[in-house]
Amino acid sequence: PPERDAAKARIKALLKAHDAVLVAHYYVDGDIQDLALETGGCVADSLEMARFGRDHAAKTLVVAGVRFMGESAKILSPDKRVLMPDLDATCSLDLGCPADEFAAFCDAHPDRTVVVYANTSAAVKARADWMVTSSCALGIVNHLKDQGRKILWAPDRHLGRYIQEQTGADMLLWNGACIVHDEFKGLELDLLKRDHPEAKVLVHPESPASVVAQADVVGSTTQILNAVLKGDAPAYIIATDNGLMHRIRQLAPDKTLIEAPTAGRSATCKSCAHCPWMAMNALQGIVACLEQGSGEIHVPEPTRAQALGCIERMLDFTA
Ligand code: 13P
Ligand code: SF4
Repeated sequence: PPERDAAKARIKALLKAHDAVLVAHYYVDGDIQDLALETGGCVADSLEMARFGRDHAAKTLVVAGVRFMGESAKILSPDKRVLMPDLDATCSLDLGCPADEFAAFCDAHPDRTVVVYANTSAAVKARADWMVTSSCALGIVNHLKDQGRKILWAPDRHLGRYIQEQTGADMLLWNGACIVHDEFKGLELDLLKRDHPEAKVLVHPESPASVVAQADVVGSTTQILNAVLKGDAPAYIIATDNGLMHRIRQLAPDKTLIEAPTAGRSATCKSCAHCPWMAMNALQGIVACLEQGSGEIHVPEPTRAQALGCIERMLDFTA
């Protein structure tokens, strides 16, 4: 549509004029993903977004994703201006782990190393020893287990349980969940697999145990994408937000992609696995934040400095 083309052209000009770069997550609107790639930005998982934003020379980062991604970018790059198309774009994991309750949980277990998922506020990260994302959590927890550490983990209970099972580490889990991945259903997936015996099953570890148990590959969004690109199966059943399908289709047009079943899936809703907060990222929001400087992320000191350590530790570990 002409309005979308006009908005895209406007954003390209604004990015140049403001020395800005677009850092997008795979779950946002396909047009925004394309724009990011066409303008020298990135489309990535949350680990790569953090690294890309930190290493890019632009003065302004426009982060198309959810709030914790903008905050991580600001924590790593306090001298850059970090803008988001909609500051109300949050995450159920972040909402379900308030900093004061989390601090009390940590205080009650001082013998444990605190490991938090990226999907948390800056204030929660300020209490953590390590931050992890789904792409590096296994490696980091294995490393901590080898050092004999006991772990306090927050907030995603499904990812925590998966990591606990895989590593055998002593982990105390916070009880949080992603409202998108929590909806995937093991029984329905089992039935779907019978209809598609040729398909491999790729699962994001924020999904419930009954879904993860049926996976050929468990991994972050980038790891799921790579599993399709490198895999030799003709079809893939994918249990993650369907925003990722856009990039996989572009890079692997010959593969058949099938969305894993969710509780809400029905004759009228065939694509229920989509994050409502990621969907708040719109072209108009990007125009507005660049034109008006709206949606700026601020992380006050000393929270920023306290949160920096756990993110840098992860980036060094995965370098
Ligand atoms: P990754 O992109 O790191 O796999 O994380 C998924 C996610 O939950 C983003 O909201
Ligand atoms: Fe949070 Fe889930 Fe949305 Fe990711 S998809 S931002 S984990 S609610």
